[in-house]
Amino acid sequence: MRIATTIDEVREQIAQWKAAGRTVGLVPTMGYLHEGHQSLMDAARQACDAVVVSVFVNPIQFGPNEDFDNYPRDLERDAELCEAHGVDLVFHPSADEMYPAGFNTYVTADALAETLCGASRPGHFRGVCTVVTKLFNIVQPDLAFFGQKDAQQLAIVKGMVRDLNLPVRVVGCPIVREDDGLAKSSRNTYLSAAERQAALVLSRAVAAGQRAVEAGERDAHALKRLMLDILESEPLARVDYLEVVDGLTMQPVERIGSAALVALAVYIGSTRLIDNFIFEEPPCC
Ligand code: PAF
Repeated sequence: MRIATTIDEVREQIAQWKAAGRTVGLVPTMGYLHEGHQSLMDAARQACDAVVVSVFVNPIQFGPNEDFDNYPRDLERDAELCEAHGVDLVFHPSADEMYPAGFNTYVTADALAETLCGASRPGHFRGVCTVVTKLFNIVQPDLAFFGQKDAQQLAIVKGMVRDLNLPVRVVGCPIVREDDGLAKSSRNTYLSAAERQAALVLSRAVAAGQRAVEAGERDAHALKRLMLDILESEPLARVDYLEVVDGLTMQPVERIGSAALVALAVYIGSTRLIDNFIFEEPPCC
């Protein structure tokens, strides 16, 4: 496995693979890899001849008061994990390599990026769309793999690929959870023991919401009330948002229809965690 820090090195390797007719899969990450990322690498390994993982804590997707400086980083451990999962190339650029002096061009998404995390984190998806576009241009993947935990990010990236005719297929992979239900996240590492326990309130609310919808609840307000009651019962939790939106448009819905996304962001102490579930109406007979 090779670790490249420059765009030129990556381009050279990709050109060789493409010349040999090999398909390329990309797993974009910010590092501090966990089992969620590993499932993306495994999916890429299954589907593609060559697998690239980018490890880059992207400064432009963090707001001024967010956790860019504290975001966990451990390239050595990440590289070992990548190697163990059959990754061929790790791309670990510096911020200057990605955003040299004079950098002046950004990619934005409109309506899809205005709700949920887009409303709580202004500028976040502009940073994500810009870095993902750059990674697509640098790596030229046939397939790119993203986790369903960031459901809005996945919808935005799919929309961007469609709207800008980018020659890549975006593959969404299921949320990976700890045994006790907590969705895997690099940010879980911020949690104290008491907060780690309190964080289970997210997956408890998700599971209860899922059960209610499966049992026939279709009123978004009633579903949110049920889930909020659970979230608000945890003293260490502060709800940032809990929304029921259309899974394609990311706009709030009153009735839970064919493809609804129920998404939440909750602060546990100062750590902001997200979780969600998607409800697909079973086809009627
Ligand atoms: O999901 C993430 O880790 C990041 O938003 C991504 C897609 C790697 C872009 O920096």
